[in-house]
Amino acid sequence: MTSMPELRPLGETLGTEALGIDLSKPLDADTFTWIADAFAQHPVLVFRDQHLNAPELAAFGRRFGKPRQHALIKYRHTDCPEVSWLTNVDDEGKVDWYGVKRATDWHTDSTFEDELPLLAILHAKEVPPEKGGTMFTDMRLAYDTLADDRKHMLSGLTALHGRSIGPAGEKLYGDFKGVTDKQYRDVRRPAITHHPVSGRPILFVNPMHTYGFVGMEQEKAWPLIEELANHATQERFVYYHRWRVGDVLMWDERATMHRGAGDYDPQQRRVMLRTIVYPN
Ligand code: SIN
Repeated sequence: MTSMPELRPLGETLGTEALGIDLSKPLDADTFTWIADAFAQHPVLVFRDQHLNAPELAAFGRRFGKPRQHALIKYRHTDCPEVSWLTNVDDEGKVDWYGVKRATDWHTDSTFEDELPLLAILHAKEVPPEKGGTMFTDMRLAYDTLADDRKHMLSGLTALHGRSIGPAGEKLYGDFKGVTDKQYRDVRRPAITHHPVSGRPILFVNPMHTYGFVGMEQEKAWPLIEELANHATQERFVYYHRWRVGDVLMWDERATMHRGAGDYDPQQRRVMLRTIVYPN
């Protein structure tokens, strides 16, 4: 490391810019440690003005763990399948409506998979002139600010996770959830987890993939999931990231929920590269 990188806050709760790092160059051990330490404290970390291709983005992800092929076959990058496209443009240059709608409700990625991802990275290539941001909320803070009776109740609950079958997933996708090459079964996870690095408690329920709790009827479970989602996504916890071309933004999948804001003109191009990283 030649000169010390710096951190600059972007939002009130989440969103931190890391200045002075060029991700296109191999990261030396000190710089990597600096990023990993910063990320443990700041679960939405942004590097501006980076211009990486898919293999370079995958290589950055590989420093933290194993980037994995995305479940949606259609969006995988042909040269580098661990990287996928997040795009609202189809092969003929027309609006891809699944790409527009996709992921515009609150969720944590892949909580329905056996193994949870560590982090995800988006790299902006083309962005709409207005809006089209990504929103993040802090699930550590969401836990901290729960009423004591809710904390107590949730500490004894095991949540059920499936692919886009929670209240928000059904609303957004109905029966059309995109073609995958896997069959999914349900996964059970404690409603409250602890961050493996900081040890902080986390509300680990998201309205896209959590569809119930063991031993609770759906009539009770869905309102509870919606109540928790409303609590976690209060404006005071949320960071709205306004994209600039060249942004590389990584977020901690264990400590946050996110969604595409879905607030832009779909005729404007919005194209990003994306990778999700799992533990080694
Ligand atoms: C996602 O990765 O869930 C999508 C975020 C976005 O479209 O801004």
